[in-house]
Amino acid sequence: MSGANSRRSERRAHEQSGRASDGREASMTGGAGEHQWWKDAVVYQVYPQSFQDSDGDGVGDLQGVIDRVDYIDDLGVDAVWLNPVYESPQHDNGYDISDYRAIDDRYGNMADWERLRDELHERDVRLIMDLVVNHTSDQHEWFQRSRREEGAYADYYHWVEGSPDERPNNWESAFGGPAWSWDDEREAWYLHLFDESQPDLNWRNPEVRAAVREMMQWWLDRGIDGFRMDVINFISKPAGYPDGAPELGMSGAEHFFNGPRVHEYLSELCEEVLADDEILAVGETPGVSVDDAKRYVGRDGDGLSMVFQFEHVTFDHGDSKWDAGDPDLVEFKQILAKWQTGLADDGWNSLYLNNHDQPRALSRFGNDEEYRRKSAKLLGTLTHTLGGTPFVFQGEALGMTNAPFESRDAIRDVEALNYVESAVDDPDGHADSYADVREAIETVSRDNARTPMQWSDDEHAGFTDGEPWIDVNPNYETVNLERARSDPDSVFHYYRELIDLRERDVLVDGDFELLAPDHPSLFAYTRTLEREDENPERALVVLNFDDEPTAFAVPDGVTVDGLELALTNDDAPVVPGRSLDLGPWEARVYLTSRPTTARTADQPDQ
Ligand code: GLC
Repeated sequence: MSGANSRRSERRAHEQSGRASDGREASMTGGAGEHQWWKDAVVYQVYPQSFQDSDGDGVGDLQGVIDRVDYIDDLGVDAVWLNPVYESPQHDNGYDISDYRAIDDRYGNMADWERLRDELHERDVRLIMDLVVNHTSDQHEWFQRSRREEGAYADYYHWVEGSPDERPNNWESAFGGPAWSWDDEREAWYLHLFDESQPDLNWRNPEVRAAVREMMQWWLDRGIDGFRMDVINFISKPAGYPDGAPELGMSGAEHFFNGPRVHEYLSELCEEVLADDEILAVGETPGVSVDDAKRYVGRDGDGLSMVFQFEHVTFDHGDSKWDAGDPDLVEFKQILAKWQTGLADDGWNSLYLNNHDQPRALSRFGNDEEYRRKSAKLLGTLTHTLGGTPFVFQGEALGMTNAPFESRDAIRDVEALNYVESAVDDPDGHADSYADVREAIETVSRDNARTPMQWSDDEHAGFTDGEPWIDVNPNYETVNLERARSDPDSVFHYYRELIDLRERDVLVDGDFELLAPDHPSLFAYTRTLEREDENPERALVVLNFDDEPTAFAVPDGVTVDGLELALTNDDAPVVPGRSLDLGPWEARVYLTSRPTTARTADQPDQ
């Protein structure tokens, strides 16, 4: 058994023995009252296209992931969420699926997928697949038959008859432009909330719902451990497709974000295929509030395990995501604190700052130059010490940063390409040339997250022997795994420690309290886990989001006695005083020693 494997087992053993006595179980879960594995877990997200290429075509593939399974295992994570690898014309990097039951050639074949599943499972790492069922590709057989109005398929998508000159309503696509396209074959409009090659499925049709359930069951029967459910709160659209209020950003959003029948559809799905609480079902749900989230994951909710909310990564956007501001720490804290307390007794949080749709959090919330390593560690400390399930995106544990996109030829993402086209080429666009939008691309484009994994300082960062499908970030010569492994002070080694820390119950289940909410540069909080017949387990986390040193006076109500330093990215004292002097981007985690009975609480755990 490898080191990471035994660390994971320790966490699980803890889970089985320790939880029964804390008396919180019933309130900790929206479901059956068990402490499911995914509550103690850390999930690692693999974006296969950019992870590791094994055959020199410049595109990552499943064999590449297999070749790197030991790295994933070594981090100590419990599960992998694999972005879509299904057959797809790749207009939206696999989120346009043409066959749910086949692996795209670029990634390999079903035998490769099965080997990956087995390699992960052998290491006690679970596998979560991406589920994209708000829409399919227009190349999917269902859409092909639907556009020909073949029998039951006719009603599989949202079709509206009418004149090709008059769109059914003013809804907009998330990728820019109208959400309706005219189909010459059927002579009708079809709805696509994303690219025109991604028609939305009609969930009003019970046959569509049954077909989705059958497909999900097919994957569960192949031994997967859960689903990450793409834009799952978009699946219900109101009858009659009413116009959206244009001033609300993506026009129509108020009608299809958490649409009228979404809970009915999801609870049906959860009952029929996701009833087993051990299946991790994480819904991607843009635009959800805490109350909305409870309806998805709470005790009386639909049955999802957790959702990805977006408030903490979109709060600084102006009229559109391309108009991102400088994130204000006070607001950022308020949002995360609201989610922490809002779901404390009813529901469960996901914890993330990075994914394949976000720019690198390090470049956005940290200092990716002078304090690259320190601020990367600080951000990791945040996501691993809040309540919920941490998700680590590939490259995050190396401290990868946003990348330069010097010309528009370097851009690959459909959303970014549409944006540049509308800003530069459209006579009504606000930009004269690419130079005017370059900063926006380099600050918020999804391509920032999608540059290849930086494994070494070999050519193309060891990602491929061929020409990578997207340029490697030029900082790979210094930011790469090989170097990080040999440096005990690297972000990589720090993440391993962070992931190990999740073995502490207080970080998983402890109540959250935000300290100094108005402090402009410090993010500080406590976590407290009451235990029957035992002293409470406590954590104090202090993070300095600043290039300048900052002093923190621990508020009166917070006990520092009994706390000891568990992790820091600097040289912090082992025992905290009442005043803490933090260096730039310093992060500290103080914990009480492992739970002991009240009688022996003074003695350190051996
Ligand atoms: C989700 C995915 C994103 C994709 C979109 C459409 O937001 O994470 O990558 O483009 O859905 O499927």
